[in-house]
Amino acid sequence: MADVRSPTLPGDPQSAEAPPSPTHVTTRREDYRAPDWLVPEIALDFSLDLERTRVRAILSVERNGDHDRPLKLDGDGLALLKVKLDGADAAARQDGEQLVIDIAGDRATVETEVEISPAANTQLMGLYASGGMLCTQCEAEGFRRITFFPDRPDVLSRYRVRMEGDAARFPVLLSNGNRVATGEAADGRHWAEWEDPFPKPCYLFALVAGDLQANSDRFTTASGREVELNIYVRAADLPKTAHAMHSLKQAMAWDEQVYGREYDLDLFNIVAVSDFNMGAMENKGLNVFNTAYVLADQDTATDGDFDNIARVVAHEYFHNWSGNRVTCRDWFQLSLKEGFTVFRDQGFSADIGSAAVKRIEDVRVLRAAQFPEDSGPLAHAVRPDSYLEISNFYTATVYNKGAELIRMFHTLLGPEKFRAGTDLYFDRHDGEAATCDDFVAALEDASGVDLSRFKIWYSQAGTPHVRAHISHDADAKAALLHLSQHLAPTPGQAVKQVMPIPLRTALIDRHSGEQIGDERLIVLDEAEQAFRFDGVGSAPMLSINRGFSAPILLDVARGPGELERLAQADGDPFARYEAIQELMMRALVAGAQANAVDADTVVEAIAATLADDRIDAAFKAEAILAPSEALIADRLDVVVPDAVHRARDALRAAVGARLSDAMLAAHRQEGGAGNDLSPEAKGIRRLRSVALGYFAAGDATAGAALAKAQFDGADNMTDRQGALGLLVSLDGPERVQALDAFYLRFREDPLVLDKWFGLQAMAQRAETVDEVLKLAEHPDFTISNPNRLRALAGSFAANHWAFHSPDGRGYAFLADMILAADKLNPQTAARLVPPLGRWRRFEPHRSKLMRAQLERVAGTSGLSKDVYEQASKSLV
Ligand code: PHE
Ligand code: ZN
Repeated sequence: MADVRSPTLPGDPQSAEAPPSPTHVTTRREDYRAPDWLVPEIALDFSLDLERTRVRAILSVERNGDHDRPLKLDGDGLALLKVKLDGADAAARQDGEQLVIDIAGDRATVETEVEISPAANTQLMGLYASGGMLCTQCEAEGFRRITFFPDRPDVLSRYRVRMEGDAARFPVLLSNGNRVATGEAADGRHWAEWEDPFPKPCYLFALVAGDLQANSDRFTTASGREVELNIYVRAADLPKTAHAMHSLKQAMAWDEQVYGREYDLDLFNIVAVSDFNMGAMENKGLNVFNTAYVLADQDTATDGDFDNIARVVAHEYFHNWSGNRVTCRDWFQLSLKEGFTVFRDQGFSADIGSAAVKRIEDVRVLRAAQFPEDSGPLAHAVRPDSYLEISNFYTATVYNKGAELIRMFHTLLGPEKFRAGTDLYFDRHDGEAATCDDFVAALEDASGVDLSRFKIWYSQAGTPHVRAHISHDADAKAALLHLSQHLAPTPGQAVKQVMPIPLRTALIDRHSGEQIGDERLIVLDEAEQAFRFDGVGSAPMLSINRGFSAPILLDVARGPGELERLAQADGDPFARYEAIQELMMRALVAGAQANAVDADTVVEAIAATLADDRIDAAFKAEAILAPSEALIADRLDVVVPDAVHRARDALRAAVGARLSDAMLAAHRQEGGAGNDLSPEAKGIRRLRSVALGYFAAGDATAGAALAKAQFDGADNMTDRQGALGLLVSLDGPERVQALDAFYLRFREDPLVLDKWFGLQAMAQRAETVDEVLKLAEHPDFTISNPNRLRALAGSFAANHWAFHSPDGRGYAFLADMILAADKLNPQTAARLVPPLGRWRRFEPHRSKLMRAQLERVAGTSGLSKDVYEQASKSLV
């Protein structure tokens, strides 16, 4: 049995908080207080200019509760030009970055005027310039970089926005809600006025001004509301917006059918920008997107890119209810909107594609991104208790583990009661800023099911580790399932409580491969517990945590040949996938420890999977794909990256060599046309590339020739990128030929150029560090564009073998990138820190080198609080 590593920390767990710092203040969940002042209305007036924009804000404020505290408005980098209170000059003081105003009555009008410089805004928070246009990003705390305001999500206001700017430079002027008036102004300027009828927190404010063209369409809601849809992009990109538009309409219909949620305005706008810190942003009626999640056509986007566009377009659209109509009371409740909305977009993607494959992909993401978070120095609860910088908490834990929590509620309640719960939640909290507790209360009230014990999933960090074994009593014809759970300490949480763990479970007959009786939903809610199954004639096989019903690590004691059998027989597709993966993982972990891989059982399981005509190509591709090196490393007590790499290479080579005919046949399988985006066509393309990868692992020379042929003949980016992704790791002449051809053809397309950088950074070659260092000097590399930075430095840090190059150059490079990026864009820089924070897991030599780079980062003066928090916590 392969050992499942338990994520232990040396010594007592330290505090979850960053070490005290003179300049950075910790915000704590327990300190929440309702706002002293409310702002029911705000009127904004922008005089737009790339270099110097003037913002006039008129706030109508209202005292909230019985107190005599002054009004405090947040600001960040604002040049204050004037403050007025009820039309007269106000005695306002500046306290740090806050503007403090004493107000005698319970109501007042506060007017401020500030100047900001969008062109100088490299953080991409607040109002900034991107490719000549102006746009905003306010979540989480960017609105304070636009005007003085109580920048917290529980202050909801009605917005009226006027903007004026040069008509030639900014022909399109957009904000939230509806356009209510437009007009010409002097000196070639023009203006527009927008009004959003729905009160919203300031993080949902948006403004866009630029030379953009729209792909326009319509959607009629279930109740007959006609909605105008626009996707705004640069004129040249218009032909690449069809898929995003199609996805948007699918998402609007899906939310009506599955959650009973209709859109609520007459207009829904999406704008694509090239410089963006995240994927996209759900601003009310005016979603702003990273171009990577809007633009696609057959020639430039892979099937994966198309899927991601559908997913993210749906995600942001779904926020209109789960996020905007019902928002978060404070940022500790971030998962209220993000976990729920990820769960919603997962359901959407499952429904429009292959549900089984979608589940596999989601679990892969969880294991790749969230499990390491949960077992490392930055582990935090889905609802954290404190932060220095909230931007650091837009994490896989809050998003993806948060979605798993919601999925567990869904599993426990069943679809009808779950839907009754979400209906009640939307109904009860419409127009409010709510908490995770409010969400659970609505589920409980609508279903009559007590979920109080489950709430521990919100507060307790770490991935529970469950052990299972079956005993059989032939006389009683009964099987006993013995379960135990363990959760290792995480920073700030030394003592862990038992968690309720819902496990979809079935027993399977060892001989016939048939399921014995119905699947059961078992809830393990003690440290150790046994469950009895009757009517079991002979010792059965265990199929447990089917569909990944709980986000846990699982260790099942299995008899010889059992996994092999389950890999073919388990009726739950996810469990079947797990069985094959576990077989591979066993061979890989043993191989990494013994420096030799026994591939026999894996070869047989893969052969049987490829030959099985009951399952589709997409599932086959997922099932036979070898676990990543990072995933293998997560199973080891001490990681030696070369040993992991060698083991995986050896397994792939053995499979490729021994199954070369089957792989070649799978690779040659005829699929649909290059523009066919049906799940079947996508599945075949995926299997073709995965099979080619195995084939090339067995025979590099013949593989390179085949990959080059696929590359040259490709009529779509999936095949092209699939081939190039193989070629970059091979040493033949095809490698450089293909890279050069790709560059020459796509050098003008930033998103495709990102692929060019990323694929080279992911190459499985000894020389990758050298290549990456060279690429950082390439004229097309720029650290100021987050997509480009992630394509090079982010991809490289995820390239396990290359990043952990024993000379430490990979670590030094990443630290250099973090420090350079921090001067421009702290939020994006901080996202590069966690790979170095894994230092404790590695053999002593690398561990020391990683730690040294972290110390260099943490010890740099003038660090942003974003990077300071991540680096200092990673060292504790
Ligand atoms: N709220 C965005 C989402 O839909 C993410 C985001 C956070 C975007 C912060 C920008 C800044 O997940
Ligand atoms: Zn979101």
